[in-house]
Amino acid sequence: MRFSTDLISRLRSATHVAVFTGAGVSAESGIPTFRDRQSGLWQNFDAQSLATPEAFERDPAFVWGWYEWRRARVLASQPNAAHRAIALLAERVPRLTLITQNVDDLHERAGSREVLHLHGRICSPYCSACGLEYLAPQPALLEPERGRRLEPPRCGQCGGRVRPGVVWFGESLPSLAWEQAVQAARGCGGFLCVGTSSIVEPAASLTRVAIAAGSVTIQVNIDSTWLDDLVTLNLRGPAASMLPELVAEVWPQA
Ligand code: OAD
Repeated sequence: MRFSTDLISRLRSATHVAVFTGAGVSAESGIPTFRDRQSGLWQNFDAQSLATPEAFERDPAFVWGWYEWRRARVLASQPNAAHRAIALLAERVPRLTLITQNVDDLHERAGSREVLHLHGRICSPYCSACGLEYLAPQPALLEPERGRRLEPPRCGQCGGRVRPGVVWFGESLPSLAWEQAVQAARGCGGFLCVGTSSIVEPAASLTRVAIAAGSVTIQVNIDSTWLDDLVTLNLRGPAASMLPELVAEVWPQA
């Protein structure tokens, strides 16, 4: 991988780097993306029947069973070299903000701290009535059957139905995480947009905010996206190879 000396020096002088990730960063850990032509979740499942508050209202066992299947996959997966490169980068720059659309915890398991989860966390279900977090037991991991209907558990405090800890279509993003993400996109000197199709708003607007603020923007993706002509640099390839190379070349160990 070769970068211009100008790009390297601009990135090295950035006192704040933001990293914005999507499903592509976890693809090489075996977690399916949403829009891959073959294996994408939204190619194989109907988002409207699974990822909306109305769907959960209508058929809670169908929705809960599907998310338990996904939670099981997450629990059985391991962070990959892309997650680890981001955690390493945090040690090599003065300040790093990690923003993810992913509901898995692979960034945390790779060593990243204070991850801004814009779309929630699949491993943190909570009561749909009173909001109390529910400590989900492990059994889903033992039978990760795709498509199995499961009655959602009830809240120990109020008896309400426990729901998956993710943000569904039509719901607002967690406001504090969103504010911090926008601030980071506005104020950082370097912005890495990794493994996202950048089509789901408002999250996708973060890269536009960083571009408008004059940050050096780097997109890492195996495919082209509509941002290709807008970012400073495109790194076309799998995140688990591109990110370690990028970190080693631009921010080598002191
Ligand atoms: P998508 O499935 O829309 O996009 C994944 C992107 O990752 C695509 O652009 C792929 O080309 C790229 N990609 C795949 N494998 C890769 C790899 N190994 N290395 C680098 N890039 C790779 O997923 P997101 O953009 O994350 O929302 O989707 C955004 C949101 O849509 C998700 O957070 C989810 C979904 O509906 C909620 O759950 C609320």
